[in-house]
Formats: sequence, C-alpha cells, structure tokens
Amino acid sequence: MTLQEEIRKLKEERDAIILAHNYQLAEVQAIADFTGDSLELARRANEIDKRVIVFCGVYFMAETAAILNPDKTVLIPDPQAGCPMADMITGEQLRTLKAQHPGAKVLCYVNSTAEVKAESDLCVTSANADKVARSLPPETEIIFVPDQHLGGFTADHLGRKFILWPGYCPTHAKLTVAAIEKARAEHPGAEVMVHPECAQPIRDAADQVLSTGGMCRYAKESATKQFIVGTELGILYRLRQENPGKEFFVLQENAICPNMKKTTLEKVLWSLRDLQTPVLVEEPIASRARRAIEAMLAIR
Ligand code: 13P
Ligand code: SF4
Repeated sequence: MTLQEEIRKLKEERDAIILAHNYQLAEVQAIADFTGDSLELARRANEIDKRVIVFCGVYFMAETAAILNPDKTVLIPDPQAGCPMADMITGEQLRTLKAQHPGAKVLCYVNSTAEVKAESDLCVTSANADKVARSLPPETEIIFVPDQHLGGFTADHLGRKFILWPGYCPTHAKLTVAAIEKARAEHPGAEVMVHPECAQPIRDAADQVLSTGGMCRYAKESATKQFIVGTELGILYRLRQENPGKEFFVLQENAICPNMKKTTLEKVLWSLRDLQTPVLVEEPIASRARRAIEAMLAIR
C-alpha cells in the first residue's frame, strides 16, 4: 500500500478529516480534504461532522480548530510547527499594553497564541481584517497585535491610526522591492501579488495585496495570464493546479516558512495511526479565546 492509500484507509477508520493550509507541502495538500487560508480553515473547522481533525499547518491554526471544537480530537502531525510571529507577544505583554490604553479594543491576528486571543476582543485574519476593524465605531481606539504590517495595512485602509505591536513574519520579511523590480523586468505584463504580512514598501510596489485565499480567487477570476507571487512558496502548488492556462513566477526562492514544511506525509500517517499529537487548550483560556474567534466568524 502507498503512503497515500494508508492515510486514506486510516482516515476512514478514525472518522477523520484532513485540513491543510495553502503553504503546506504539495503532497500534503494533495491528500487533504480541504485546503485554504486561515479564515477558510477556521470556518471549515467550525462545520465539521467528523470525530477527528488532522490539522496540517502551524500550531496556532490547530489551536484555533481545537478551541472551536472542544468535543472533537484535533491532532497536529508535528507539534513543533510553530509560528514565530505568534510568539512575538505574550498574554502578559498584551495585558500591560491594554492597561496603558484603557477603553481601547484589541484586534488580534489569528497568528497568535490562545492566551493572546483570550485577552482580545476580536480576531482577524489577512482575509477579513478590514471588515472586522470597520465593525468597531470610528471613535474607538484600536490595539492591533501581533503583526505590525497587517495592522498598518488595515489602519491605512480605514484612514485610522492603530496602536501597533512590532511583530512580523520572518518569511515575508525576506521579500524585497528589488526582487519585485527584477521580476517585473523579466516578466513584463505579469501582475505582482503579495501578502499583507509584507512591509509597506513591498506592498506599495505590488499590484495586489491579498491573503492566500484571496490570491487563489484573484488568479482564477482575473483576465491576467501571468502572475509574480510574493508569499510563501507552498501556494504555488494550488495556484498552478487550479489555473493550468496561467503562469505563476516565484518572487523569491527563499520565501519558505520552515514551520509550514515540518508536516510530511509520514507524520500525517503517524498522526492518524497513533492519534498524536492532540491539541489541548485549557479553560478558561479556551472559552475566552473562543469568544474572540466567534465574534470574528459572525462578521460575514
Ligand atoms: P493566510 O493564509 O490567512 O493568508 O495567512 C498566511 C499565513 O502566514 C499563515 O500563517
Ligand atoms: Fe508564521 Fe510567517 Fe510561517 Fe505564516 S509564514 S506561519 S506568519 S512564520
């Protein structure tokens, strides 16, 4: 039996579903029941009728699925797959910041720990940050954690000033304006898509600033035939699969998130076989974090 066949067999036996983020290895995306961005995965995790969820992504994503599904078993094939950005702010640091700005509301990027979510009013993802921020009255002071770039991008859209935490994504921090200029010279006519986790000069040099799910939709719907892709390379698999008539060029070959690559097919198999590693979130953190996630999911 191939690894893929073994995984499919075990998945049935365990009554499990496999969810994968757009940055996962191609072979992991290929075996998944559903692949998407952080928002799509959170929504999907909220609608599952299986007993077990195998989450192929980074820890905060599996944690979000576990918080939304306290009665299910949520497994992460490699519990060492963390997100450095999520670890750039602690619950204690956020409590201190809140104390300095009494009355402010906290918007927290889902790329954060459960403890930080528990201290927040609303979660956001890169796909809905504008919409969620607009749900707050214009006079409300907004603290945005932990990503300074998604926070700054959202504040600019709203024409507001947020209190930003200086967190960032080390993978998107590698992207440069010089690389965009070089890629444009090599592929005139191609549209440049970058992720809002990129710093402002990169966003300004691009044509489109989109979440990974937004990139997938945009590439399908746009009349453009060539794209330069400025985000983690895992997304190239899906973009190419879904758009056989279009061309996708990598902005930078080093745009790799090592944590997203920790999940392999072998680990998915062992995860299903041994029911490892369950993601557990303690109370009252789980309930408080659920409030912030559900408040976000209620905004359509
Ligand atoms: P999205 O897929 O939600 O755009 O997020 C990107 C990311 O960095 C996830 O870690
Ligand atoms: Fe975290 Fe960046 Fe990796 Fe996403 S790509 S998981 S934000 S380090």
